[in-house]
Amino acid sequence: MDKNDNKLVEMAKKAMLNSYSPYSNFKVGAAVLTESGNIYTGTNIENSSYSLTICAERVAIFKAVSSGERTFKKLAIVSSTGKPTYPCGACRQVIFEFSDNIEILLIHKDGIIKTNIKNLLPNGFKMKK
Ligand code: THU
Repeated sequence: MDKNDNKLVEMAKKAMLNSYSPYSNFKVGAAVLTESGNIYTGTNIENSSYSLTICAERVAIFKAVSSGERTFKKLAIVSSTGKPTYPCGACRQVIFEFSDNIEILLIHKDGIIKTNIKNLLPNGFKMKK
């Protein structure tokens, strides 16, 4: 694991501590590394009106995009289950919007699974390019 990965993993784990998930008790943390070398983190935020819940991955990406970032290199995801937590379908589409070849690190209790958005969302929909 390179130094960058280590930092990304630690930041995703730290973000998970802020999870607001009183309904599911399923805590998720995410950290995204931008092309420019910045890292943005996110956690899942639930709501009494369940469908308003937002996933950790989208919070991290939206924070980055709203700060002016557009290109991403890596995304680390961790959950309180200790098992690899793959991004949901909606998050895959959001990830793909900005990066069609981003590396995705799935952190679990015994290590890290590395994959990328091409594997997780083959033939993804895009209007631009
Ligand atoms: N969740 C995420 O934050 N990311 C995922 O990839 C899967 C699901 C959250 C949403 C909800 O707060 C909880 O996990 C259970 O679905």
